Amino acid sequence: MTPMPATPTLRQQALALLLTTDTDAKARGTLALDLSQAVGADEVLAVLSGIPGRPALPLLVPHTELKTRSVRSREGHAALIHALAHIELNAIDLALDLSFRFEGMPEAFYRDWLKVAQEEALHFTLLRDHLRSLGFDYGNFPAHNALWEMAAKTSGDLLARIALVPRTLEARGLDASPPIKAKLLSIDDQRGAEILDVILRDEIGHVHVGNHWYRHLCEQAGRDPMSTYRELARRHGAPRPRGPFNLEARRAAGFSEEELIALNEPGDPPAA
Ligand SMILES: [Fe+2]
Ligand SMILES: [Fe+2]
Repeated sequence: MTPMPATPTLRQQALALLLTTDTDAKARGTLALDLSQAVGADEVLAVLSGIPGRPALPLLVPHTELKTRSVRSREGHAALIHALAHIELNAIDLALDLSFRFEGMPEAFYRDWLKVAQEEALHFTLLRDHLRSLGFDYGNFPAHNALWEMAAKTSGDLLARIALVPRTLEARGLDASPPIKAKLLSIDDQRGAEILDVILRDEIGHVHVGNHWYRHLCEQAGRDPMSTYRELARRHGAPRPRGPFNLEARRAAGFSEEELIALNEPGDPPAA
């Protein structure tokens, strides 16, 4: 019999951080996780309400209600950095959720996603500090909840979660990075561009982790990765990939040539 660990397992700590509403405390706590501690891979943890813990602000509104502003104005510049910080906060929660929700995977699975959560916490912190240096803060602009909506839709199905969150939504971030960096450089935001470089480097790793575990799960279930992806994307209304694609980053993140070609297949998976 394995003795009960004296400290909470990593999966219990991931759940506690996921429920934390204070964003600075969430980021700090995630960065401080000691990944050498016991994982608790087989523990069945109760899914509580209040996931994810979020502050009162920013106000979450439908995607279509967000104003597009010119990055040339002070507010527009800050709104762009704010939108990126919001994505990173969601990314912390998504990685923590993957770490706590699905029991019975190999220990490496949990350590991989907790490492991802730590890098997301770093990304959030870099962007929030940059936003503060511009005279704003996280919560000053409205934001949307699209990333978490896909997490909610796939909360009962690990294979769908990995297919559609890291391998679809996070992978879109690889495509989005170069044009956003160019926008920041166009207003001489060198610090912002530097942060985007750090994020892109790490995000290739996150999508790589997603591809690794997606293939592992497909193999275990005896399923074909290509047709399984199409089926899951259709079932959950995943957004269609939109070019131009960052093929170099996608290749480095472990997508096969067949998968890269499939990005251009019209209507497959269908538009959300
Ligand atoms: Fe990130
Ligand atoms: Fe990420």
